[in-house]
Amino acid sequence: MRVAVLGTGIMGAPMARNLAAAGHEVTAWNRSADKAEGIERVTAAGSVAEAVRGAEAVITMLADADAVEAVVRDALPALDGALLVQTSTIGPEATARLAEQVPGLVDAPVLGTKAPAEEGKLIVLASGPEDTRERVDPLFDALGAKTLWLGKAGAGSRLKLVINTWLLALTEGLAEAIALAEALDVDPRTFLDAIDGGPMGAPYANLKGKLMMEREYPPSFPLELALKDARLALAAAEQQGLRLGALAAIAEQMERAVEAGHGKDDMAATIQASRA
Ligand SMILES: NC(=O)c1ccc[n+]([C@@H]2O[C@H](COP(=O)([O-])OP(=O)(O)OC[C@H]3O[C@@H](n4cnc5c(N)ncnc54)[C@H](OP(=O)(O)O)[C@@H]3O)[C@@H](O)[C@H]2O)c1
Repeated sequence: MRVAVLGTGIMGAPMARNLAAAGHEVTAWNRSADKAEGIERVTAAGSVAEAVRGAEAVITMLADADAVEAVVRDALPALDGALLVQTSTIGPEATARLAEQVPGLVDAPVLGTKAPAEEGKLIVLASGPEDTRERVDPLFDALGAKTLWLGKAGAGSRLKLVINTWLLALTEGLAEAIALAEALDVDPRTFLDAIDGGPMGAPYANLKGKLMMEREYPPSFPLELALKDARLALAAAEQQGLRLGALAAIAEQMERAVEAGHGKDDMAATIQASRA
């Protein structure tokens, strides 16, 4: 298929590369043009319209709802019947607004971070019109290990918020356990060793725990985007009259770490808000 990828950041660049490696004809656009250049077998476009012209499917992988809405505004005149496949995490409200603008929208946020994106092992949380599945499944096969089709557009974005609520709790819990270990003169490695392989252990604890202990935060999932997801989940909960107290506290911790200059760092940097 002829595919346009709009947004070639941490996730979008490897996604574009994997689509091209699977034999699709891929054109990519990014706001900072240099990031769309030099991706193996992918043609860089100088504008959104140039990327989208002639595409059969247009994939958005951008920071947040504002970015997606702005870029889709530029893409719309050139869409010409192409499928819009929205993979960024923007929450159900913005997805509903987008679905009104773009009939046939495929709402497909993804589960998995930088490494799974590079390895083509994302999990695609797909939702949208039944009759689009056949066309987009080959694209999802190039991006991911598994595609879950969940129903009408919006279902993918709702599940994504549920999953990220769990992810944020895991990460913040880990951060606070490690910060407490450090403060109590307990080697955090003994904490990780104790839980490893048991019901409380998680591969994620070792992965993010290492970054926290080493105080090195190369971004797989930038903290500012994790905070965005906490806010999206809190807003969705509030709309349902639900109070998620722990998530509200997690958002505050993440805000503190962002204010301390860690927004572009990996979400593991949330531990900096707990350190004395
Ligand atoms: N990283 C992960 O682990 C992960 C996993 C699943 C889902 N996600 C979601 O996937 C999306 C992308 O994440 P990422 O990790 O790839 O982030 P990223 O590396 O920060 O990339 C963000 C992209 O959005 C673009 N952008 C930001 N504001 C824009 C605007 N106003 N107009 C046009 N483009 C704009 C950036 O362009 P510039 O390069 O010019 O700044 C960049 O291409 C987010 O919604 C995130 O929550 C991330």
